[in-house]
Amino acid sequence: MCGIVGCMGCPNGTLETLMDGLGNLEYRGYDSAGVALGPVLETRKRAGELDELRKTVAEEPPTGDFGVGHTRWSTHGPPADRNAHPHTDESGRVAVVHNGIIENYQRIRDELEAEGVTFTSETDTEVVPHLIARELESGSDATNGDGGCSPADAFHAVVDRLEGSYALCVVVDGHEAIFAARQGSPLVMGVDERATYLASDVPAFIERTRDVVFLEDGQRVELRPDDWTVMDADRSPVEVSVETVEYTAEATGKSGYDHYMLKEINEQPDALRQCLSGRLDELDGTIEIEELSDLEEPTSVQIVACGTSYHAAVYAATLLRGAGVPAAAHLASEYATAPAPLGKGTLVIGVTQSGETADTLAALREARARGARTLAVTNQVNSTAARECDDVVYIRAGPEIGVAATKTFSSQLMATLLLTEDLVGLAEDLDPLIEALRDLPGAIQTVLDTTDAREVAAEIADSDAYFFIGRDRQFPVALEGALKCKEISYEHAEGFAAGELKHGPLALVTPATPVFAIVTGDGERARKTIGNIKEVEARDAPVVAVTDGRSEAERYADLVLEIPETHPLTAPVLTNVQLQLVSYHLANDLGRPIDKPRNLAKSVTVE
Ligand code: M6R
Repeated sequence: MCGIVGCMGCPNGTLETLMDGLGNLEYRGYDSAGVALGPVLETRKRAGELDELRKTVAEEPPTGDFGVGHTRWSTHGPPADRNAHPHTDESGRVAVVHNGIIENYQRIRDELEAEGVTFTSETDTEVVPHLIARELESGSDATNGDGGCSPADAFHAVVDRLEGSYALCVVVDGHEAIFAARQGSPLVMGVDERATYLASDVPAFIERTRDVVFLEDGQRVELRPDDWTVMDADRSPVEVSVETVEYTAEATGKSGYDHYMLKEINEQPDALRQCLSGRLDELDGTIEIEELSDLEEPTSVQIVACGTSYHAAVYAATLLRGAGVPAAAHLASEYATAPAPLGKGTLVIGVTQSGETADTLAALREARARGARTLAVTNQVNSTAARECDDVVYIRAGPEIGVAATKTFSSQLMATLLLTEDLVGLAEDLDPLIEALRDLPGAIQTVLDTTDAREVAAEIADSDAYFFIGRDRQFPVALEGALKCKEISYEHAEGFAAGELKHGPLALVTPATPVFAIVTGDGERARKTIGNIKEVEARDAPVVAVTDGRSEAERYADLVLEIPETHPLTAPVLTNVQLQLVSYHLANDLGRPIDKPRNLAKSVTVE
């Protein structure tokens, strides 16, 4: 999704700071990039990878004391130089970078075109520089004595007209300021003694400062060489607090791994330690999440989420139902427009790594508007979901840069497990679960150290499609295994509830479609899934069993990925790690751009 950077007073050079920031935001996903520097406004922009922009600025370096930059993820108009940001007005006096969607842009565009303004892009964003230029020429709030508006007045008057979602940064030629506004799209500000930064996300400037102001919806910012002001929509100054974020620049580097995804897969033991820290009491045999101490036991639970987070929601709903509480997972994009009925005491939980996913935020807002208490389960401290919900549980996975969610999924699974125990109680005797949770980081390490995923990936490469089956708590792992596979390898993959295979998907099963069967434990579910394996075998499809070896699954499988024995509720984390690794190696062998899969964005901030 689009990424914004801005800097004022950058000690290492404006262009370098902006290009570093854009590089740090590459993980969000993009297809074009650009920069604008002031006070003598110069813009450069190019479709394609950041390297294209690097070549352009190397040939003709723009200079300036401050500036803004942008990575674009196409929504209105294809990736092309003309659609890349910054967008400027006809005279090139105003430059704008924008993340989000301006919903009333067509009306504004029609109005401006009727006045004779010529547009050069298909974007919604381009209306903004034209509107600001018009205000500068003829604005009614004349404050600069020459019949037009000051740049600040022009900026605020135009933002007042915009509908939809935006994080906007604006530079006006000849004027030493950056104007910014946030409404529905993330925007943070970094500060130190010499410089001020703006960005869609903290990693953009993490190597320069860790002191951050998390801007709120409706807030606007004016950065000037010697000071900065945060104000509300009425332009009244707002007092904000500067927070020091915990993670460091090293935490967002690759630490010697070829890809962020592989690094993040390997970080799972630590991520889980963080997630569980202070929440298990081995002596008392209790599990408690401090943040939830004021929350009463819900009568029912609805969980809204997208993508990988939705798979964690499916797992959580299974646990809650197992504990006797009516619970369902909902795709947030559906729930936002077709919400499920709420009962008295229904809790609506949003599971979202970024805390900024527009569909999930819309679903949570819908639930709140109808009177539900809402709880965010998120990784991002101070994210929009964290701030808007009544309660928040942090999964504490640390920064995740790879577009494919890996460690955050494991942490979501375990955070929702702890939450379920805390809210409604999972079992009388928690000791075996607490023991399994305590041992889980070590068990993940064992999987990482002993996995045959690379060999399995090589063995099954070049297949027509890849299927994943699992039951009950392993069903969300089947869904997630397939999503990971298609997302980074671009191979066709589907996940099914094991019992559903024979109700349709079996028609797709051939000798060229390997089936990953997730079978843990030795109970009824395992026996039934082994029955499904036999159905697959009878069609000569290769079977890869992902198993703890407690059932006979291995006997019927062509290939095996083993996990250590663990508690049934923690087993999905381990089976999923094996599937993450298979997808990684499959994609790596195919030479895919693993951390930045085509068309995808890390944080999807449009509905
Ligand atoms: O930040 P969120 O958890 O709300 O993001 C939801 C999905 O966009 C995300 O999980 C997506 O499916 C991942 N890229 C999958 O790896």
